[in-house]
Amino acid sequence: MEPLILPAGIALHGSTGGITVLMVEVPAELLELTRGAARISVLTGAGMSAESGVPTFRDAQDGLWAQYDPMTLATPEAFADQPDLVWAWYAWRRHLMTTIEPHAGHRALTRWGEHAAVEVITQNVDDLHERAGHHVLAHLHGSLFSLRCFDCDLPYDMPVEVPTQQVERLEPPLCPACLGHIRPDIVWFGEPLPVPAFERAEQSVTEADLVLVIGTSGAVFPAAGLPLLARANGVPTVEINPVPTELSHETTLNWRITAGAGLPALVSALG
Ligand code: OAD
Repeated sequence: MEPLILPAGIALHGSTGGITVLMVEVPAELLELTRGAARISVLTGAGMSAESGVPTFRDAQDGLWAQYDPMTLATPEAFADQPDLVWAWYAWRRHLMTTIEPHAGHRALTRWGEHAAVEVITQNVDDLHERAGHHVLAHLHGSLFSLRCFDCDLPYDMPVEVPTQQVERLEPPLCPACLGHIRPDIVWFGEPLPVPAFERAEQSVTEADLVLVIGTSGAVFPAAGLPLLARANGVPTVEINPVPTELSHETTLNWRITAGAGLPALVSALG
């Protein structure tokens, strides 16, 4: 069956004092699906963080990192060849996280979680859901804030230098056990996903009453397979994304809206 595509339903209303108020009308079909859901599984991608100021993975990078393609930096081969370059890029990304905040969409999910079981599965390596007060069930692609040894995998929890300016080279710390280089505990291209996190995610999407797919292009598997798994198990799926994606034809409803505009409106409408 063809998915139902819902218009964003955003209206701009001028109000006194020159303040523009954003009114979002939540489509009735979406409200009907969400009202009856006690357990909601939410898969988020880079678009969930975009309105906090984190560029999406495939967006252009700024400053000195503009010359590098993230797809070539985020590989074990790049780290093995140039650990100081890759470490400097991640150090910069960690610094960026200290300059941004969760947005209204993150906070809306947290509020929803006070009334229903809202299980967040994220492909994002930032900590914006957590900083909005929402426990993350599964960080499918790891976390910027978790570190381990590239050689022996030993977790590393010592403080690390976070430069406040872009630098192109920064030596990673060395593992106290084997003197290997310390790396971010992130899933790089060509690496497998953490099995326990993926199993939690599979269980969540198959047992949920509803799956929301927010801000992901659906281009990277196996994460992109989770909405398909939900659908195969008869669980309705809703995509929240301003533009169509590779998953749009596979989801029950598509709401063309940003996470920061749509989620607060949806959660308020649920009451
Ligand atoms: P992408 O950058 O591929 O896709 C971001 C999606 O977010 C696009 O479909 C945008 O239309 C959408 N989007 C942008 N702004 C939005 C907003 N304000 N609200 C809602 N949606 C918005 O990011 P991902 O799908 O997350 O993996 O990419 C998946 C994985 O690809 C990443 O986790 C990364 C990369 O390979 C690893 O690093 C392992």
